[in-house]
Amino acid sequence: MADIKLRICLVICLIGIISASSVIPSAITHVASFIPDPSSQLSTTFYVTKCPLALQIIKEEITRAVLNDRRLGASLLRLHFHDCFVQGCDASVLLKDNATFKGEQNALPNVNSLRGYEIIDKVKYILETRCPNVVSCADILAVAARDSVVALGGPIWPVRVGRKDSTTANLNAANSDLPSPFLDLKGLIDAFKKKGFSAEEMVALSGSHTIGQTKCALIRPRIYNESNVQPDYRNSLKKNCPTKGGDNNLSPLDVTTPNFFDNAFYKNLLYNKGLLHTDQQLFKGGSGPLDYKVLSYALNPLLFKLDFANAMVKMGNLSPLTGYQGQIRKYCGRVN
Ligand code: HEM
Repeated sequence: MADIKLRICLVICLIGIISASSVIPSAITHVASFIPDPSSQLSTTFYVTKCPLALQIIKEEITRAVLNDRRLGASLLRLHFHDCFVQGCDASVLLKDNATFKGEQNALPNVNSLRGYEIIDKVKYILETRCPNVVSCADILAVAARDSVVALGGPIWPVRVGRKDSTTANLNAANSDLPSPFLDLKGLIDAFKKKGFSAEEMVALSGSHTIGQTKCALIRPRIYNESNVQPDYRNSLKKNCPTKGGDNNLSPLDVTTPNFFDNAFYKNLLYNKGLLHTDQQLFKGGSGPLDYKVLSYALNPLLFKLDFANAMVKMGNLSPLTGYQGQIRKYCGRVN
């Protein structure tokens, strides 16, 4: 008798579990459709009443600094990218290691490589003096990236603001989610797909490498071992990047106009003058799946600028903290 009762009970439990498992997912999707996308809470007018001069102050400081040291513009654009690809655009990249977590600055793609922290701290200091506890470090990064590109002759795009700053950082995610310069095309496409970007958007965003520099250590395997490097270009690169030593020697990512945000990056690729292995992966001499995109940007600078601007808006919307989430850090390098 007890055995029969136990069996009946088991059957009832099983029916319960099966029906609950089919109801719960649809209930979750139903509720999820009512939860607004956090980026929809950002707005271009967020600081108009709270700190009316905020965006103007950022623009003035960044423009002055970038015109004084043009590479800084490249470094600030990259800082925003490396922020957004790791737990969203929340200024986690600016947090230094502390007793409770190891920050992202010592992750492989960032250490001895990311630049521009000081100018962000300076802008933050000015903003804290003007409007204490109002402007987030994540917003400063997003606006500084845009203003840097504009200062170097690139496109302008609307930056919606109102992001909050994280109270944590994620070293492991920085190591796993930021693309390595040794990836092949599939790896690149996958890395961007993971963040919601199409392969074509990845090509547009890679146009960032029309400004800035890279270290010898990262290009040595390419210039000494790969066949798709234009011969004169290879020879000139070898002079600045010997087989041994000189690991930190710099070469411009765009050999033709390194200080201007134009479409020369794509034109270079057509002639096997991509500097990073990953750059040249985008164009494979007519046989690659994204060659047509590279060609279209090489031929049409306006199309590149438009697509780049749209992709940057999308990047800036990656998982922001809004409302009561996160905090406005007083110092960008540490939590309050
Ligand atoms: C497609 C995958 C990408 C890879 C594998 C990659 C990799 C790299 C590497 C290895 C460097 C040189 C770092 C060094 O030598 O210290 C670099 C520089 C740079 N990257 Fe990327 N990157 C990618 C995409 C992007 C994106 C999406 C952006 C911006 C939206 C960006 C912006 C920059 C800029 C501006 C520089 C120059 C920085 C400077 O001179 O300080 N990159 N990138």
